[in-house]
Amino acid sequence: MKSKNQGLTLESLRDEVIGIDTKIPLLDGTERRYVFLDNAASTPTFRSVIKCIEEFLPWYSGVHRGVGYKAVVATNVYEQTHRIAGEFVGADLNDNVVLFGKNTTECVNKLANRFSFKADDVVISTMMEHHSNDLPWRKHCRVIHVGIRPDGGVDLDMLKTEMKKHAGKVKLVAVSGASNVTGICNPIYDIAEWTHAVGAKIFVDAAQLAAHRKINILPNDDPRDIDFIAYSAHKIYAPFGIGVLVGPKEFFALGAPDLVGGGTVSYVGLDEVEWGNLPQKEEAGSPNVVGAVALAEAITILQSVGMDVIAKHEQKVLEYAIPRMKKLNGIRIYGPTEDVSNKVGVIPFNIDGMDHALVSTILSVEGGIGVRNGNFCAQPYMRKLLGVTAEEEKMKRAARCDNPSLPGMVRASFGCYNNEEDVDIFLDMLNRIIRKEYRGKYVIDSITGMYSTDGYEPLAAHRFRFFDERFVPTKSEEVA
Ligand SMILES: Cc1ncc(COP(=O)(O)O)c(C=O)c1O
Repeated sequence: MKSKNQGLTLESLRDEVIGIDTKIPLLDGTERRYVFLDNAASTPTFRSVIKCIEEFLPWYSGVHRGVGYKAVVATNVYEQTHRIAGEFVGADLNDNVVLFGKNTTECVNKLANRFSFKADDVVISTMMEHHSNDLPWRKHCRVIHVGIRPDGGVDLDMLKTEMKKHAGKVKLVAVSGASNVTGICNPIYDIAEWTHAVGAKIFVDAAQLAAHRKINILPNDDPRDIDFIAYSAHKIYAPFGIGVLVGPKEFFALGAPDLVGGGTVSYVGLDEVEWGNLPQKEEAGSPNVVGAVALAEAITILQSVGMDVIAKHEQKVLEYAIPRMKKLNGIRIYGPTEDVSNKVGVIPFNIDGMDHALVSTILSVEGGIGVRNGNFCAQPYMRKLLGVTAEEEKMKRAARCDNPSLPGMVRASFGCYNNEEDVDIFLDMLNRIIRKEYRGKYVIDSITGMYSTDGYEPLAAHRFRFFDERFVPTKSEEVA
């Protein structure tokens, strides 16, 4: 299947976004185009991704274990998607393998499970990390969390000091490419060089970086190469359940896969097993072929526009938004606000004296703007930025969920298709909130900590086809 995306422009990307014109009801009874500023959590879908899936589905078949015509076509397509996902991050596929899981979290867990840690091995990570690039390592060995500078960036001197201090025991350095809280990008190629100098490997969590910057993991023998990298399709406009893990073939060729079963083997006797070839050995069970097709198409769209063009555009949107936000009274932005060249399109903030959950609710209910609030699965980092200790937070949490001073922030995050008009709508509503010009009388739920106001029922107008009012969903953990 050939990509039809040659010559796409930045302008045409906005038309590519499914749901760009979706209208939602507001508290005042009117409807408004939904302004989606939660792209750091998950992006919408490109139109061409759906077209590509439709084109592929008549050829859909289980892969790898069939000689039927469609099985052969589908297998070929599936293998090509690995190539595209690897080349997207500059991987030399002679030396590296591309493995699919269901998201970045699963990929980090796989990698952590596949390392053979010794009792006194350490992983050096940072306080900036998303829980998904922290907890999987903690399961296996001691993790050292390098601290944060006052501007929100990783303390690189401390990082180098810790590397030297633990030289010989550092198995891996695990850092994010870009923070999902502040958007700050880490100097991953410099960190790679320092890491290799102490004989360790580096893993980059590129979940937030992949949609915003060109990535080149460099040849495996380059001192600045990134050994392992992971990212998620749902953060690059293809939300169909694929995560990508890239790493050296020789690493994954050794030993047993973390998940075993169908597809992972070449020979099974009653007492012995021979593992199959990569990548099948590491992708147990029937894979998500359709998700892989979606991912590959989204990548070709991004590449056709150009990652550098996208990065420049997002930079302009940030440079438009931040100074205007700073002019509003009583707003506190976390992380860099002057030079934002080293930051992807994420703005975390609070309004003085207002609960972050309340601000986000008003933005949605009265402004039709979708942002996120809370701790963004990066609790240690968020507490550090807020200047709250773990003990203080625990005490507040123990008090009740309806404690409006629970630590957290509001986060507005931009995708490649957001523009200044989106920012203006956001700024206008922020201004109304700061001036207390909102209309609702918001009440907090003591169990969930969420706000509601009389006369507004978010689902009243849009009960999607599976809606059943007898079903009360349980409160789930936040994922961001
Ligand atoms: C920096 C970072 N790492 C990891 C993850 C986890 O990604 P996923 O939810 O796709 O597993 C996220 C998700 O928000 C993230 O922002």
